[in-house]
Amino acid sequence: MSDTSPPQPSAHYSRLAKLFHWGFVGLFAYGVAKQIDDLDQLADSDLLRFEVVFAGVFVLLLGVRFAYMKRTQTSALPATTPPVQKLAARIVHGAMYVSLAGIALSGLLIGLVFWLGFEDGWLIQGVVGLHELFVLASYWFIGIHIVAACYHRFLRDGVWHAMVPFWQDGHTSHKDH
Ligand code: HEM
Ligand code: HEM
Repeated sequence: MSDTSPPQPSAHYSRLAKLFHWGFVGLFAYGVAKQIDDLDQLADSDLLRFEVVFAGVFVLLLGVRFAYMKRTQTSALPATTPPVQKLAARIVHGAMYVSLAGIALSGLLIGLVFWLGFEDGWLIQGVVGLHELFVLASYWFIGIHIVAACYHRFLRDGVWHAMVPFWQDGHTSHKDH
């Protein structure tokens, strides 16, 4: 691998970091697109197994990504960034990890509770409620994250450039998110 050099402040992310970032955008979009619409669907044991395997792989890869990012990469925020803004970025990034992990773990819990025979009632309704709360939280934090990324694109401070492969230079056109 060519990504063994130590992280530098505002250096571009490694290829693996970008692969994790954009791979998860795809994985998350896929997970949301094929979401379960109704609890009754879990009676289909093939679907239940698929969901559980998907959520297990998702949370495992998320853990690997988190460990890798924490150990080897640093934010592309310029050194002159005010501490409060650095803290805000850390909170939003952390909240995205927590909500994505929360979706998968609460999904696994739904699977377990259903498999144990609690196919209806307050227990499974409660866990589904928790699952939906994590989904809602993830939408909010991802939304804030994308707005912040676009803001940095307009600042032209290198943050957008460090992670996003498109709309790299040239015009200062309108906001499209
Ligand atoms: C499912 C959607 C997304 C999630 C969950 C997500 C999550 C993250 C996380 C956790 C980081 C911190 C680095 C890391 O630990 O990997 C990050 C960095 C970044 N993301 Fe995203 N992201 C998403 C979509 C996007 C999109 C659509 C854009 C741009 C349009 C974007 C732009 C950026 C940029 C510019 C950084 C670098 C920030 C910095 O260096 O401080 N992300 N993203
Ligand atoms: C990473 C994996 C997963 C993703 C991304 C995901 C995503 C979603 C989304 C977006 C919703 C709709 C939430 C809403 O409408 O507010 C949902 C609902 C639901 N999910 Fe998941 N899910 C995952 C894993 C699982 C697993 C493993 C199970 C169970 C085995 C599961 C069972 C359900 C159920 C029962 C609902 C509620 C359906 C209803 O409204 O009755 N999910 N999920």
